[in-house]
Amino acid sequence: MKYLVVGSGGREHAICYKLSLSNNVEKIYAWPGNDGISLENKCQCLEIENEDKLIEFAVNEKIDIAIIGPENYLVNGIVDKLMQNKIATFGPEKKASILEGSKIYAKKLMKKYKVSTADFFEAFSYDEAINYLIQKNEYPIVIKADGLASGKGVLVANDFYSAKEFCKSLFYDNIFGISGHKVVIEKYLKGFEASIIVLCDGKRFLPLLSAKDHKQVFDNNIGPNTGGMGAVAPNPFLNEKDYEKFIENIMNPTFIALKNEGLLYKGALFFGIMVTESGPYLLEYNVRFGDPETQAILYALNNDFSEIINEVILGNLDKIQLEWKKGYTCAVVLASGGYPNNFQKGLIIKGIQNDYEDAKIFFSAVKKSNENLITDGGRVLSVVSSGETLDDARKKVYNIVNRINFDNMHYRKDIGII
Ligand code: AMP
Ligand code: GLY
Repeated sequence: MKYLVVGSGGREHAICYKLSLSNNVEKIYAWPGNDGISLENKCQCLEIENEDKLIEFAVNEKIDIAIIGPENYLVNGIVDKLMQNKIATFGPEKKASILEGSKIYAKKLMKKYKVSTADFFEAFSYDEAINYLIQKNEYPIVIKADGLASGKGVLVANDFYSAKEFCKSLFYDNIFGISGHKVVIEKYLKGFEASIIVLCDGKRFLPLLSAKDHKQVFDNNIGPNTGGMGAVAPNPFLNEKDYEKFIENIMNPTFIALKNEGLLYKGALFFGIMVTESGPYLLEYNVRFGDPETQAILYALNNDFSEIINEVILGNLDKIQLEWKKGYTCAVVLASGGYPNNFQKGLIIKGIQNDYEDAKIFFSAVKKSNENLITDGGRVLSVVSSGETLDDARKKVYNIVNRINFDNMHYRKDIGII
């Protein structure tokens, strides 16, 4: 079979790598991919200038299945275009991608179908937002831009001043364009976060291993939010009771919502939850695999990944029995110093082996330059390994991390323990 994987990060590398291990897979094209992905067996990155030309390529090349990584392509309707051209696609159609594309839509859906979530207010203007904040006068409070904002559209405001400044930047400074011209103002929830990615074949849900992301850039959860500095799977803090509550109060009602609202969903649905003393609440849906959770989850997966993707497309997920590596899997992201703000590119990466017996490197942003791999973005790569205990997994990963180096390299040392 021939696959097309859309995206260029570590998540897409993990997807390509797992597909490459399958005997059923002849070729994997990544668009645009990165030079680290091209090193993978059976993988080729495509230099194609736009989506229309990509679809033309997919038709001519007789791609069997396309898998879409990032949300922007999904929200803009790439799946609808591929399906119109008879390319089977893993990822929701545009109409369903609004679950991530609009926080207001998502929150309204949660309310309608009694999915556990924080109380909220929708504001469509600066004045409306400010009036609500004054009337509510409760801090911390959470303000969320309605549309896509590359993971930067949420502020947990500790006082009225910072809430007001954020609203100003959304409504008047247009920092996220029209994405920030509507907001959700939400009750602050105290607890720990978990990521649960669920496969959907249009008829049923199949949850993957739970995971924990580490969003802030520095140890002890300090500093600005990033795309994710590391992940562990399963989530070491999530107990059986809260997991059952997630299934009952969040996942199952979401399934009914998709069905009743006529949203065609074949792909991965990501639930970002906050587990509080009174159980889990849904913070957000993402209509895709998470990054860096996917690097940890797919490394832990023992099944043939291409078989799973095929059964999602065919609507036969009931045929799949998921099998996981024992213990825990840990992924640590190596980033360029300064990320998520200003950082340098083009730094030579040293100390990487071609192969590791018991670990894997997934590249997020690298380029080939002569015989070297050089950095090409903020999050550069992640090192992933598994162990019988979380401590074993962490030790294996950090042993490898300590041998890799580039100027100004930054990583968190507390992945999995906080
Ligand atoms: P979201 O994009 O909705 O997941 O929000 C981004 C991040 O903001 C989450 O991962 C949480 O760390 C934080 N957050 C969002 N909503 C809340 C909430 N209601 N209470 C506390 N923190 C929140
Ligand atoms: N790790 C969270 C995300 O992919 O948005």
